[in-house]
Amino acid sequence: MKYFKKLIGEKCYLSPISMEDAAQYSEWLSDIEVGIDLGVYSMQLSLPKEEKILQQMIDKNEYVFGIIDKETDTLIGNCGLHNVNNVDGRAEFGIFIGDKLYWSKGFGKDATQLILDFGFNILNLHAIYLQVFEYNLAAIKLYKQVGFKKAGAFREAKLIGGRKFDVILMDILAEEYTSVFIQKKIPEQP
Ligand SMILES: CC(C)(COP(=O)(O)OP(=O)(O)OC[C@H]1O[C@@H](n2cnc3c(N)ncnc32)[C@H](O)[C@@H]1OP(=O)(O)O)[C@@H](O)C(=O)NCCC(=O)NCCS
Repeated sequence: MKYFKKLIGEKCYLSPISMEDAAQYSEWLSDIEVGIDLGVYSMQLSLPKEEKILQQMIDKNEYVFGIIDKETDTLIGNCGLHNVNNVDGRAEFGIFIGDKLYWSKGFGKDATQLILDFGFNILNLHAIYLQVFEYNLAAIKLYKQVGFKKAGAFREAKLIGGRKFDVILMDILAEEYTSVFIQKKIPEQP
């Protein structure tokens, strides 16, 4: 599979999503450890369903990318901006590293910073927000590290295995973000 170096970080680069990766996404999202953190475990993500979801993302012009390991050029996950609102300059961030061998090695942080860079410096967004389950400590730590702040919570909005968890809302404003990639590529003003 050919990937394209659209946004280049320290450990990974982001390549526009490809329909050819649908089966790999279905496999990863059917894994209970990945699916529970994302809230998609209740869905039947068959190959045709995943292909439909990817096609909808492409048709809706959502900014979704494959996360590619820079060293091996292999797909390890997916991230992007959804529900882009050009009136208020807002979009919703989502990410997963599907290959669990790559967890806790800095790839999630690298990819998140690239998406924020793209959102703020190319799409000219004003704010990027997300939702995360309160039990997802890895994701919450990562989001705080790159500058997301807690904006509130939906109480007991996630029900699983007889337990109730809050859904935490976080956001980051353009002025709170420092570019890691794009600003270095923009020519100085003459
Ligand atoms: C959440 C996720 C994207 C994080 O990506 P990652 O590549 O594993 O995270 P990173 O290695 O960039 O880690 C960022 C920070 O979180 C910490 N961290 C990683 N896993 C952790 C864990 N299980 N518990 C606590 N902290 C953790 C890291 O140590 C790192 O902090 P450090 O720089 O102080 O060491 C990834 O684990 C994943 O895809 N999980 C499943 C899907 C998911 O939860 N998506 C997000 C839904 S909101």
